[in-house]
Parts: sequence; C-alpha cells; structure tokens
Amino acid sequence: MAIVKEPEFTEAIDTTETDQQLQIPSELPVLPLRDIVIYPFMIVPLFVSREKSIRAVDEALAENRMILLASQKDLDKEEPTAEDLYSVGTAAVIMRMLKLPDGRIRILVQGLARAHVESVDATGEYLRSRVSVMQEVLQPERSLEVEALVRNVRASMEKAINLGKNISPEVMAIIANLDDAGRLADLSASNLELKVEDAQSVLDIADTTARLRRVNDLLNKEIEVLTVQQEINTQARADIDRSQREFYLRQQLKAIQSELGEGNELAEETAQFKEKIEAAKMPKAAEEEALRQLKKLERMHPDAAETATLRNWMEIMTDLPWSRSSVDNLDLKKAETVLNEDHYGLEKVKDRILEALAVRKLKEKPKGPILCLVGPPGVGKTSLGRSIARALDRKFVRLSLGGVHDEAEIRGHRRTYVGAMPGRIIQAVQQAGTNNPLIMLDEIDKVGADFRGDPSSALLEVLDPEQNNSFRDNYLGVTFDLSNVIFMTTANVLDTIQPALRDRMEVIRLAGYTEEEKREIAIRHLLPKQMDENGITARDVNVSKTALTTIIQQYTQEAGLRQLEREISRICRKIARKIAEGHKGAIRVSLKNVHEFLGAPKIIPEEALKKDQVGVATGLAWTAVGGDVLFIEALRMRGKGNLVLTGQLGDVMRESAQAAYSYAKSRAKELDIAEEDFNNYDLHIHIPEGAIPKDGPSAGITLATAMVSALSTRPVRKDVAMTGEITLRGNVLPIGGVKEKVLAARRARVTTIILPQQNRRDLDEVPKEPFKDIRFVFVDNMRQVFREALGEKVIPPVSSGPRPQRVPQAANARPA
Ligand SMILES: Nc1ncnc2c1ncn2[C@@H]1O[C@H](COP(=O)(O)OP(=O)(O)O)[C@@H](O)[C@H]1O
Ligand SMILES: [Mg+2]
Repeated sequence: MAIVKEPEFTEAIDTTETDQQLQIPSELPVLPLRDIVIYPFMIVPLFVSREKSIRAVDEALAENRMILLASQKDLDKEEPTAEDLYSVGTAAVIMRMLKLPDGRIRILVQGLARAHVESVDATGEYLRSRVSVMQEVLQPERSLEVEALVRNVRASMEKAINLGKNISPEVMAIIANLDDAGRLADLSASNLELKVEDAQSVLDIADTTARLRRVNDLLNKEIEVLTVQQEINTQARADIDRSQREFYLRQQLKAIQSELGEGNELAEETAQFKEKIEAAKMPKAAEEEALRQLKKLERMHPDAAETATLRNWMEIMTDLPWSRSSVDNLDLKKAETVLNEDHYGLEKVKDRILEALAVRKLKEKPKGPILCLVGPPGVGKTSLGRSIARALDRKFVRLSLGGVHDEAEIRGHRRTYVGAMPGRIIQAVQQAGTNNPLIMLDEIDKVGADFRGDPSSALLEVLDPEQNNSFRDNYLGVTFDLSNVIFMTTANVLDTIQPALRDRMEVIRLAGYTEEEKREIAIRHLLPKQMDENGITARDVNVSKTALTTIIQQYTQEAGLRQLEREISRICRKIARKIAEGHKGAIRVSLKNVHEFLGAPKIIPEEALKKDQVGVATGLAWTAVGGDVLFIEALRMRGKGNLVLTGQLGDVMRESAQAAYSYAKSRAKELDIAEEDFNNYDLHIHIPEGAIPKDGPSAGITLATAMVSALSTRPVRKDVAMTGEITLRGNVLPIGGVKEKVLAARRARVTTIILPQQNRRDLDEVPKEPFKDIRFVFVDNMRQVFREALGEKVIPPVSSGPRPQRVPQAANARPA
C-alpha cells in the first residue's frame, strides 16, 4: 500500500522487503521534516540538504536503514532541537538513496509506524532519538460510526475531486477499496495538502476511529473552501466571458452597421439626446446617470427591443422639468377674484384657501398640512383645485387615485419590466411641464391595498415635505425633487383613508348645495359653460328660473351638481340641433316645456309621508353621496318577544336597534306599553333598500321611535324627521353629517327636524334663508323625541289583534 509521487530514481541502491515485519529499534537517527508530515505506509521522495540530516541518513543506512521522520514546528529553524519537533513522528525505512552533484541527497522513504519521541539527543553530529512505537488502537468491532465515517470520507473525496482537487485516479481507486479506517484516514489526509499542524494532528491520533473522525472534519472544511473557491472562479470566468463576448459582438455589430449605413442614425440620435440632457439642467446625479445610459445607447443596435426601452427612458428623462418652473402669482386680491369667478358660494372654503395662499406668500415652501377637500360627488372639489391653480398661476394636473391598488402605479416599475413606465406622480409632473404644478390627488379615499403593495405608503412619502425633495421613482432610477409641487387631495369620505395619510391632511368639508344654491350655480356657471361648449349664445336661448328649479327637483337627486350639469348639457345639445336645423329666434325653456327636452321626470320627489302612521318613522341618513331620508318601519306581531331585524343594516345599526329595544323595554310603563306585550309580541324592524346609509349609530332615535310607536300604537307624525344616537338609558348623543342631513330633509319637505342638542353649533354651517320655514328641535333624551314625534294613542280594534301595517308608498319611491 503505497503511493509514489516521483518514481523515477535512476541510481538504485538496495531494495527492502517491506512486507516483512520489521523490527523497529528503540533508538533511531532523526530526519527533521520542514513542511510535510509523512504517515505510515506512505512512500515519499525527500530532498535532504542540511548537514546534520545528511549525517542522519548516512547513519541510518549504516545501521538498519531505519530513521525517524519528525516534522518541525517552525519551518525556519535551521538547527532544530528536541523542542522544535513534534512529539509524534513516523518511523520509516529508507528504500533508496541518490547523491546529487551539488552535494544534496535524495532519498525514497516508506513510513512504517507511528512512533512517540521519548527524547532527542542533539549533542552529536546528528539528531538521535529514543522512540516507542505507537500501536494502532482498533475498536474491537466495527461500529456503525466507523462505517458511516468510511463512507463519508470516500464520498467527500469524490466531491473534492469534482470541486477541482487534484488527486490521482490511482489514489481514488485505493480509497474506494480501503476498508481499514486508520489507513483510510492516513491516505486521505496525505492527499489533501493539509497545513503541517493539521496533518500532524492526524498523525498524533492512535485511535483509528478518532483519527478518521478528525480527517472527516478536515475534509468537510476543505470542501467548504473548495466550494467557495469554485464559485469565485466561475463568477470570474463568467465575467470575463461575458465582457469578451460583448466586445466581440459589438465589434461585429459595428462592422455590420457601417456596412448597412446604419450607424449614423444612432449617432445623430445620441447627439440630440446629449443636447437635450444639457438643456434639461438636471441635478448632478441624474445627469451622470443619463450620460452613462447614453453611452450604453451609443453601443446598442438601433432596432433592438432594449434600445427602444432605453430610448423611451431617455425621452422621459430629458423631457422632465428638472429646472423649469412657473412664477407664482401671490396677489391675494387677484386670487380671490379668480376663486369667486369660478365658484359660487363656498365662502368658508374659499376663505381657508386664501389663508393657505397668504402663508405661501410669506414662506416659499410652507411645511403645512396638505389640504383635503371632502364631500359628496359633484360639489366642486376637483374644479376648486383647478381654480386654485389658476389663481396661483400654476399648472394643474389631476391624478385620479380611484382603484389604484399597486404601489408601482405611484412609484413606477423598474425599467427591466416589459412596458415599464414611470409612476403616476412623475407622469403628472411630466404632463405639467413645470416642477411646481398643483397636483390634485383625486379620490384618495378610493386607494386600495393588496398583495402588490400599499400605495398609501408611497403616497405618504410623496406628501411628506421632509422626504419628497428626493422622491425616487423606480422607472427613473434617480430622485426627483417634488418639494415645489403643491399637493391637494379630495375624498368622498374620510374613514377609508389610511390613518397616517389622514394625519397629514387638513380637512375642508363641502357638504352639498341647497336647491336655491344649485339654481344660482346653474344660472351663473353651468348654463353658460354648457352653452359655450355647444356653441350657442345668450341670444339663442332663454331658460327660466322655474324651469331650472323643476330640473333640480324632478330630474336630479344629488348633493352635488353632476346630474344637473348633464341635464343642462342635454338641453343645450337639443337647442344646438334646433338652431342647426334652421330655427330662428330665441328658444324658451320654461316650466311647461322642460319635459320636451328631458323626457318624463326621473325623480318622484322624496316626500314626507302622506299621513301619520303607527310604526313608521322618518330618519335622516348620511351616505357617501350626501344626505338622504329613510323610513324605518316597525311592526308588532304575535310571538314570543323576539326582535327581528331585516333590510339594510350593518352591525352598528343592529346594535343601535338592540339598545333602542332594551331602552323601550325598561321604560315600558312610562311609555304606556303593557309590559307583557314585550313577551307576547315579536317586533319586526325593517330598513328599506334604496337608502343605503353609511353604517352608523345615527339611526338610533329613529329606530326607538318606530318601535315605541308600534308597541304603544301611537302614530309617528309624518312631517318630523330625526337623527341621533341613543344610549341604553335613552340619552341622545350627537352625530355627524348634519348639513347633508338637513339639506336632504328639506328636499323631502319635512317641517320639523329633531337633532341632538350637541349638534346645535353644526347648524352654523347651514345657510339660514332656505330653512326659515323649518323648525329645529334640539334634544338630549328620548322623552323629548317622543313628545315631539308621537301622537295620541290609537285605540286598537277590539277583536282583530295587531293591525296590519301598510308600507307607505313614499318609502320605496326611488328612481327606477
Ligand atoms: N360652487 C360652485 N360654483 C360653480 N360651479 C360649481 C360649484 N361647485 C361645483 N361646480 C361645478 O360642478 C361640476 C362638478 O364639480 P366637480 O369638481 O367635478 O365635483 P367633485 O370633484 O366634487 O366631484 C363642475 O362642472 C364644477 O365646475
Ligand atoms: Mg372630483
């Protein structure tokens, strides 16, 4: 069992029979080894050059050819002493010796056995040592561990080869068949090119299992190193390959391009881009990136898909208003004029906007909150934004966020995406053409979040004055300064806006318009605008006030003006057609002929109930599209005292109903209800479809009124409408959306409105004039509500039990 690294010895001297059991003497000359550890059974050629070592070899050859090979701890020691040698060495036999012309000798040795160095005598002409042979410690039976280790070591050696370790196939063949754990350990260790101290650590171990374990550890470490090494190599090679390939291909491409006469086109284009980049006056980082990409573009094929992508990017980069801005008008008088020109009413809102502009006059980049206009559709939120931009002389861009789910829509897709584009914010800036436009983030309450990321967090960054001076769009890959942009937002409702976003914003509410306001707006704004759009003049048409009122009442049902504007537009189109067909003179649109233009009325006005009824109460609700009236019906039926709730109720409303029921039950006597009725009757509450209120507790007092009415058979007064939250004890708490609700009540021609006492100051926001005929009653407990809303007890017919209640027509009167 031996390996020979360099077998070509020319001059042979005696050979030895290695098979023969050799007796190892207890004293041996020592050959110190410098950077190698030799194990038993190994045949290795060695150069010997040190004087003392040559002597030792001579001595050995003179005796019985045996010598102790002991490794030096410190390679640089010329004259090692006892302490400089490891205490375990290998007794070996010198198989051949060859004298070299320069005086050195070369020997071939074969390791025989591990030997413990007892002592070293360094006083003579060569080192001489007393040794004791170490017996191999074998386990009596081959354990599972040994088996596993043997297999592991074999497999690991294979692996090492695959990772590029240089081990000869002969050695591998031996390893594959070697069953002796000790020898396997030695042979493997000798082929791993271990550091001397690691190699020595294997030599030190007499126990074969422990030795194999140690080799296994070393082997694992080696494999780790090899793996990393290989990764590095592959990477390096790939890099070289790629760049060479690319270079080669480009050379070819150039040749082809010049052959086809194409190169010039691209050169021209890149020259143009270069000019554009200079003209754009980008910040340094952006410009550097643009120039880098330009260099890349120069080398690309003009028709490649990648080139098109990069060209696109270049266009956008150079088109962005990096340093182009408009000059603000800070004349507040003019701003006020503009706002008044564009919008009727809205005094409070306009005041607040002018305040914000005043701050801007004093401070260039105020870090104040973002204005958020909140209100139902069509009340002028978006058009106010446009008007503010006009007042300031800024560009206006509206950015609709409705249905934006994906963060990338705000922040853009990486350029590597097929069809990638910048996000909406950068698009808006590009569209504006200046870096200080007014950007209106419309419908910010409709932003959704899902697996594609949360757009709100991107928006937060956009709106944050601390961060938005370096807004990074994924597509651009460089930052853009948004701090000069004025952002405004709009929403229908506040509660779906992410709280962190909402905190950034100062809310301005626009509740909706009364019929009179609508008519005024129609006369001053909507009609002239639509006439203009349809090419007709004041000479062609004359719309009477009563006609407008009719349109508002019978063709629209909204807090805002959208539908009204559409109807007016329809009239204008019809008139335009008549004129085009040769009609002479002004066309009159009056109460009498409105339907000729618009067809039959679409809306049966939502009216108060026709008569007082038991169990039907009129509530006021607040929906996303403004205020609304809703009729809550309660019906008592023979049963077991259950409360049955049906119709449009959410959880909060269900709880309100429960609270109202409990309250009524606890006050039965006071309310003139026989207590056993609660057990003998089921109470069925229904909230009709159609009015889809935002789920809230504000129907509480209406629910209670309907219930008590049904149970006590006292009818509810038909012209009383109410809103308020109820507590278990019958107290009335304040609610939201007062302005919208009272506007709706007025539309429904209610004469009395019951409101919570604590909502009294909300009426300041409501114009006085249109409400002069309406009586407001402020309450803080249910007793006051009942006093106002319930009539005298109706004596029920003696025999027929509970009377069937008819659902009033008006409750379902909705546009078809
Ligand atoms: N106070 C007002 N004065 C004049 N026109 C108004 C007023 N409020 C709304 N409008 C007009 O009504 C229409 C709808 O307004 P819009 O801004 O789209 O509403 P919103 O954005 O709130 O849904 C627009 O044509 C707008 O100019
Ligand atoms: Mg809008």
